[in-house]
Amino acid sequence: MLTDEFGREVTGVRVSLTDRCNFDCVYCHNEGLGDTRGPMDPQDDEMDTDDVVRFLEVAAEFDVDSVKFTGGEPMLRQDLEEIIARTPDSMEVSMTTNGTFLPGRAEALVDAGLQRVNVSQDALDREQFAAVTQSGAYDAVLEGVDAALEAGLDPVKLNMVVFKQTAGYVPQMVEHVAENDGLQLQLIEYMPELTGKPEWNIEIERVHNWLAEQAFEVEHREMHDRKRYWIASDDAAVAADGGTVEKPLEAGNGVGMVEIVDPVENPTFCANCHRVRVTHDGYLKGCLNRNDDLKPMGEMSKPQIREAFREVVANRVPYYGEYMIRNSDGEWEINDKYIDSYANV
Ligand code: 5AD
Repeated sequence: MLTDEFGREVTGVRVSLTDRCNFDCVYCHNEGLGDTRGPMDPQDDEMDTDDVVRFLEVAAEFDVDSVKFTGGEPMLRQDLEEIIARTPDSMEVSMTTNGTFLPGRAEALVDAGLQRVNVSQDALDREQFAAVTQSGAYDAVLEGVDAALEAGLDPVKLNMVVFKQTAGYVPQMVEHVAENDGLQLQLIEYMPELTGKPEWNIEIERVHNWLAEQAFEVEHREMHDRKRYWIASDDAAVAADGGTVEKPLEAGNGVGMVEIVDPVENPTFCANCHRVRVTHDGYLKGCLNRNDDLKPMGEMSKPQIREAFREVVANRVPYYGEYMIRNSDGEWEINDKYIDSYANV
């Protein structure tokens, strides 16, 4: 197990398999690499199947026990099934996808070893969905979610980025996951650091407060600094209130689980970050918010990957609370210690 200077063990990796995507979400940070637009055909700079597998084998040597495949849109890779099948057995395999390619393919992914999936779904309203994703694939996403459930992926987590354009749809999405067995909702605080649109921020505290009012149970997971809210659908809540239910309030009985992921300006979140990222073109990346810590894995031989992995972990620093600190005016600024690394970008 590799541990950084701040005592954070690296237990997970998030591997971007391509930066191509058939969506163009207005908020997208593209794994911290900026603009998402580009050609849709396979690109030469992408790690090939063997590169990805070799990296995962090294990660497993270091006791990394989970991998999340992401993009761009990871399902644009035709070798995704092969990559998953060749992922070391000791690793839990999950994926974040926009869902459009799941119909007809979800089962093959599960057969290959996919265990969990997150589908980005930012609204239940077709027009708002089109405005946010700048694509018209709303029906394909809903079908994709169904395909994931049918293939036996449980739970299917819906990722919703909460910002100006979507905040109004939170109640509707919460009701949606409460009504539909197998779905969970992950509300993700909009991260403005990499998109240059701070004016889209909303106060995530208001979402916490609203959920706390709706929930019949709140769980705080210290390990991840995440809160989970258990919420009954309108029908289940009315039945429970009226005392007419035979069914208790629990998941699968008109009850949904909602999690909030709120990393922005949150030192506790960063102190609990146990994940290293890999860019589609084979760079290790110690922090989503930084681009001055990228480390190439060279020609991707195992010794080169091992060395780069050790180095990137040794250089890992919590972003909020260490790389960024509050000045005397309460504003976040780069810690002097790291000004040099920033200048090297
Ligand atoms: N803020 C928060 N989450 C984001 N994602 C992408 N860009 C941002 C951002 N600026 C998340 C979405 C998507 C996943 C791949 O990354 O939740 O589902």
